[in-house]
Amino acid sequence: MKTRVTILCENLVGKRVGLGEHGFSAFIETDRGDYLFDTGGGRSIVANSLTLDKDLRTVRKIFLSHGHYDHTGGLPEVLKLKGNVDVHAHPQVFLDRMAMLEENGKETKRFIGIPYKKGYLESLGANFISNSDFVEVEKGMFLTGEVPRKTSFEKPDPRLFSQINGKTEPDLFLDDQSLIMESEKGLILILGCAHSGMINIINHVINKTGKQNFYAILGGTHLDFLTSEQLEESTKFLKRIEIEKIGVSHCTGMKAACRLLQEFGDRYFYGCVGSVLEI
Ligand SMILES: [Fe+2]
Ligand SMILES: [Fe+2]
Repeated sequence: MKTRVTILCENLVGKRVGLGEHGFSAFIETDRGDYLFDTGGGRSIVANSLTLDKDLRTVRKIFLSHGHYDHTGGLPEVLKLKGNVDVHAHPQVFLDRMAMLEENGKETKRFIGIPYKKGYLESLGANFISNSDFVEVEKGMFLTGEVPRKTSFEKPDPRLFSQINGKTEPDLFLDDQSLIMESEKGLILILGCAHSGMINIINHVINKTGKQNFYAILGGTHLDFLTSEQLEESTKFLKRIEIEKIGVSHCTGMKAACRLLQEFGDRYFYGCVGSVLEI
């Protein structure tokens, strides 16, 4: 199966065209049709789809990596163009989510969950299909479902919280899931924010698919915001497995992106708006 993945929404613009915003979305073209993984925050998806010549009306399915605004905020814009479409996500994707951030010397609480009610999105045509487990969503395309947390060095982001039954607790991100596509050159893994830990996700994918060769790993890795031990141990792990191309984006952060460039050289690219992976 021929596959082309284009980064539609991302923090950075590096190909002279498109708009950058804090968020992530990838447009996936295959012989069978087109798919969308995440939708960015909503400011850039339509403009970038026009600039990059990707027709959002052709999307067969939408996959949501998790319920943060910067991955889901573009849903209404896509749905207004596309109409009825299946939207695959974990059942906890609509949890109320907060970030506690220090801004100008004081602690600020921000709502960072999906900024729209489920009913509104359904009225625009979203047909939500939930999964908690690893699932084949199309032939050769899989969602990871919940990812077991096994590594000792991958820690949750202490700034992020969710609200369950009125109680604010550290966000467990059970809804964090990634997309896997089979190709003749190996697996293609697309991460949203990798809140479950990039290495936990990769181990889960290896366990579930029985395959260990990755043609490409793309998307947000969240490697820069936690401990330096996490960055070091994750980099060591990545060097041990078979990865042909690594194209990080979004919440990877510059320090980690530079570190991966150093380690992977020609096999590395930064997945900014308009970056393309073709097989
Ligand atoms: Fe994100
Ligand atoms: Fe996130």
